[in-house]
Amino acid sequence: MKKPPAVRPVAGRLGILLPGLGAVATTFIAGVELVRRGLAEPVGSLTQMGTVRVGKRTDATSPRIADFVPVAALASVEFGAWDIFPDNAYAAATKAGVLSKEHLSLVKDFLEGIVPMKAVFDPGYVKRINGTNVKTGTSKMHLAEQLMEDITRFKAERGVDRCVAVWCGSTETWRAPTAVHETLEAFEQGLRDSSDDIAPSAIYAYACLRSGVPYANGAPNLSVDFPALHELARRNAVPIAGKDFKTGQTLMKTILAPGFKARLLGLDGWYSTNILGNRDGEVLDDQESFKSKEVSKLGVLEHIFQPHLYPKLYGHYSHVVRINYYPPRGDNKEGWDNIDIFGWLNYPMQIKIDFLCRDSILAAPIVLDLALFLDLSQRAGMSGVQEWLSFYFKSPMTAPGLYPEHDLFIQLMKLKNTLRWMRGVELITHLGLEYYD
Ligand SMILES: NC(=O)c1ccc[n+]([C@@H]2O[C@H](COP(=O)([O-])OP(=O)(O)OC[C@H]3O[C@@H](n4cnc5c(N)ncnc54)[C@H](O)[C@@H]3O)[C@@H](O)[C@H]2O)c1
Repeated sequence: MKKPPAVRPVAGRLGILLPGLGAVATTFIAGVELVRRGLAEPVGSLTQMGTVRVGKRTDATSPRIADFVPVAALASVEFGAWDIFPDNAYAAATKAGVLSKEHLSLVKDFLEGIVPMKAVFDPGYVKRINGTNVKTGTSKMHLAEQLMEDITRFKAERGVDRCVAVWCGSTETWRAPTAVHETLEAFEQGLRDSSDDIAPSAIYAYACLRSGVPYANGAPNLSVDFPALHELARRNAVPIAGKDFKTGQTLMKTILAPGFKARLLGLDGWYSTNILGNRDGEVLDDQESFKSKEVSKLGVLEHIFQPHLYPKLYGHYSHVVRINYYPPRGDNKEGWDNIDIFGWLNYPMQIKIDFLCRDSILAAPIVLDLALFLDLSQRAGMSGVQEWLSFYFKSPMTAPGLYPEHDLFIQLMKLKNTLRWMRGVELITHLGLEYYD
């Protein structure tokens, strides 16, 4: 095993930069401020509420994660954002309609102070919306340079020492990677030539990595997940993570599917449908943006069930995912699952799930944990794809040639063992006490 890293201590303030100031981003910012003022609890956040067992069960030592590893304190966090709409975070949160008026009014003053910087936008990549708060430039490289200037200015104005970025912008249309994504040289030439294959989210990711800012991708679009930017991340010693926050239906899938597999229950089919009425739902109503989501959602079961190892149980199931835009529901999505499983002697059974979920309420703590853990990774000298953060994603990024781990429980074990390794304490294997010396 590699020697544990020397983690640079937290010094100064941490800037959290958010491309996209919509439902998820504003729910996250408002939540952090409510927690800082002692008005709410950070439910769902591992860094704030989770613990990690250290040593044997008989030692009864389970520190809070925030006390075990040196993550930045919430008090030291500053927020910055870009959006195609000029609304400040209070106006955007009001439109998003996730948090109640009562909650928002408690932090109105703070939210009004967060005004989005001009965005890099291309309506060819996000079809259903268009805004005016948008940069212009002579080339995509020129736009990237403007983003880098934004970062430098933000740091100076807010007195911030380090930054991390989490993409909370809309899902872009699905595009397969092309030659321009292959090497850093080709990508930079593509930026100078304003190649149509380079999405706005990839321009943000490039600008962040060039500025030494770790980058996580909360949407399923490519953004930072291609060889050219993996190369830049390694070269500049910057950690990256993605893709697509694991909330709602996929969270349920990665909780349930490992259970069926553990008990060797077979699967005939899994039909998932959602109704969703927020702006994200509207963007996903466009078939090309939905394609990005579909690719991200469909991969999950395949990797958990491993049909090549269990052909009799998982060799022939149907997996269908649908998202329908239905405005009356707003951010309160309803997800139905019908699961056809079979047991002993192939006798069939059915499970029905009706999850009345709140998308951004599930996503906000993920944004917080990713920001704090990416900053920790950077101070620990860990660069490139951070697979130990797969826990948070529907479609985890991996090193080339590896399959992603989707099982939530393996992901959590990997995350906690990575923290133990960072601190140089023994990893937990769950081997019984009787087998230890
Ligand atoms: N809410 C969840 O549970 C969840 C789960 C997984 C993934 N996601 C993804 O997270 C992202 C944010 O979700 P949301 O519900 O906040 O959506 P949203 O539509 O409320 O917010 C997205 C914001 O991004 C802005 N935007 C679009 N393109 C931009 C660009 N190029 N630069 C800057 N801003 C841009 C939009 O104007 C909008 O304000 C989406 O891609 C969504 O698919 C959300």
